[in-house]
Amino acid sequence: MIISILGGTGSLGKGLAMRLALAGYEVVVGSRDEKKAFLKAREYEELCGCRIKGTSNEKAIEVCDVAILTIPWENVLDFVREHRRSLSKKVVVSPIVPMRREGNSFVYAFENGSMAERIAEIVEGAVVSAFQNVPAKRFSNLEETPNFDIVVCGDDARAKEVVMEIVNSVKNLRALDGGPLSNSRIVERLTPFIINVAIANGLKEIGIKFI
Ligand SMILES: NC(=O)c1ccc[n+]([C@@H]2O[C@H](COP(=O)([O-])OP(=O)(O)OC[C@H]3O[C@@H](n4cnc5c(N)ncnc54)[C@H](OP(=O)(O)O)[C@@H]3O)[C@@H](O)[C@H]2O)c1
Repeated sequence: MIISILGGTGSLGKGLAMRLALAGYEVVVGSRDEKKAFLKAREYEELCGCRIKGTSNEKAIEVCDVAILTIPWENVLDFVREHRRSLSKKVVVSPIVPMRREGNSFVYAFENGSMAERIAEIVEGAVVSAFQNVPAKRFSNLEETPNFDIVVCGDDARAKEVVMEIVNSVKNLRALDGGPLSNSRIVERLTPFIINVAIANGLKEIGIKFI
């Protein structure tokens, strides 16, 4: 199975690329800039010791089975519109959290719905949400084995199963079925809440675990 991480040159993409490669997947890092993707993929390869390819977002979409969107929330809907046709044949994973800073805390940016559902209105294929509550810096530090739960939401049972299997193949992650894609509204809103709790309690880079 080929997993492409679109915008995989950034914070969340780094951890996902390395940990999915370590789990045995063929991983492709996509970027708007092919050279940047190539250099980042080399950097990740050196850190994790696994083969990772880097190419343009367009080629990364073309070759993959599963596409993970790791693009800033402000830009992702334009990106999805631009690549609507090619993404429609793939399982599309949204870890996107629309949020902004207000003073010393973070707030969720949408009044209604979720980003995952907005993406699903554009692409025809299956959209699954996952990884929204993962703190990227800690996740990309391979000396850490973050013991997180990853809530996976989606309306296409087979696509959700595929994504849960991917999550469970990463050491120390546990996939939990979070129900339909509309539950992404809850999962996305958890992220600014978790960050605010971390700030208020002097904690750093925390994730979630259901116990
Ligand atoms: N950071 C976290 O801790 C975290 C945790 C959970 C979820 N998320 C979600 O994951 C997504 C990515 O977060 P991040 O922190 O990894 O973001 P980031 O590092 O700021 O950006 C990721 C990549 O997006 C690409 N990009 C930037 N502007 C773009 C545009 N206008 N069009 C297309 N691509 C663009 C860039 O890649 P190129 O320049 O190479 O194209 C960049 O390296 C966000 O939506 C966020 O909500 C983040």
